[in-house]
Amino acid sequence: MKKLTFLGIETSCDETAAAVIRENDNGTADILSNVVSSQIEEHKKFGGVVPELAARAHIENIEFIIESALSESNVSINEIDGVAATAGPGLIVCLTVGLNIGKSIAAFAQKPFIGVNHLEGHALSPGLDEKINFPYLLLLISGGHTQYLIVKNINEYEQLGTTIDDALGEAFDKTSKMLDLGYPGGPNVEKFAKLGDENFFKLPEPIIHKAGCNLSFAGLKTAVLRESKKIIGDRKLKYNLAASFQKTTINILCKKTRKAVKMFLEKTQVKDFCFVVAGGVAANNSIRENILKLSKELKFKAIFPDIKFCGDNAAMIAWTGIQRFKKNLFNKIDIPAKSRWPLDSKAPYMKGPGLKL
Ligand SMILES: Nc1ncnc2c1ncn2[C@@H]1O[C@H](COP(=O)(O)OP(=O)(O)OP(=O)(O)O)[C@@H](O)[C@H]1O
Ligand SMILES: [Mg+2]
Repeated sequence: MKKLTFLGIETSCDETAAAVIRENDNGTADILSNVVSSQIEEHKKFGGVVPELAARAHIENIEFIIESALSESNVSINEIDGVAATAGPGLIVCLTVGLNIGKSIAAFAQKPFIGVNHLEGHALSPGLDEKINFPYLLLLISGGHTQYLIVKNINEYEQLGTTIDDALGEAFDKTSKMLDLGYPGGPNVEKFAKLGDENFFKLPEPIIHKAGCNLSFAGLKTAVLRESKKIIGDRKLKYNLAASFQKTTINILCKKTRKAVKMFLEKTQVKDFCFVVAGGVAANNSIRENILKLSKELKFKAIFPDIKFCGDNAAMIAWTGIQRFKKNLFNKIDIPAKSRWPLDSKAPYMKGPGLKL
């Protein structure tokens, strides 16, 4: 069968990205190009993503990024089999930029178009390098989401648990901001945590003994805020707090993963399974090491995407496009940008006042 080649486009948040991906004989992907332009400098002075600035930067960069991805890949637009662009979830003003140019290219070149769920991109991202059997257990830890899901197949997800407040990446970003460790938050917290004593501060692990594998980070964030106000100017204590925060998040993830594994086994009866940890926070080496340790005890195979595929990128979007193409999951050209788009549409919405656990 012909090996499919896809152009992928990603503009859901603050990365403008395009990639050309081709299937190979191993059931994984040849990365013909993977171009990511980060807007770190634009948002640094505000300590977070400013949607209007992000959208403007996408508009300024997108054509150049797509042209670069195509020319690096040595594939002409006529040779590709389809175009995939992120349609959600994300910032509408940002999504619209990549989605519209993707649709235009597909229409002009008369190629199929696929509007990709960014979270499905993260969920399938380790498949770029490694063939993984369904079903597998997924922990998605990113800037906007923290969820345990059973990945039953392409387009078939069952949510086992989710954060009821902040996403883990958001908690890392806020911690970095409170401790003045720099932007972007996650990598800086990881860097400075190495200089601190992770057992110095005792921080809360919210809802750890209840609510199954649902998670909560708001109380932890508030505790970091409270402690940070007491240690202003003390560099050593600041590093201790960063280290203690990171250690607490790892404890939370390990305890909740035990619950998620139990649920996965009960629901699927599949003993020999993979546990995929994906999304921007999956780049964190301490989290990786601790999940690997847990995998030996709980006897699952832990899989992490290559670091370059953890944060936002278009390779995972093109790859998802290829997988959906093979299942005839195409989109009409009028597919809208969606700010919210859960992978499991039946999962209960777990945020907001009045939530009962
Ligand atoms: N080494 C690291 N340790 C901890 N967190 C990290 C690390 N590297 C990146 N992150 C965090 O990952 C997040 C970015 O991930 P990603 O790009 O997948 O999120 P997003 O696309 O904004 O959100 P979503 O995918 O939920 O829509 C940021 O919150 C960032 O701080
Ligand atoms: Mg993302």
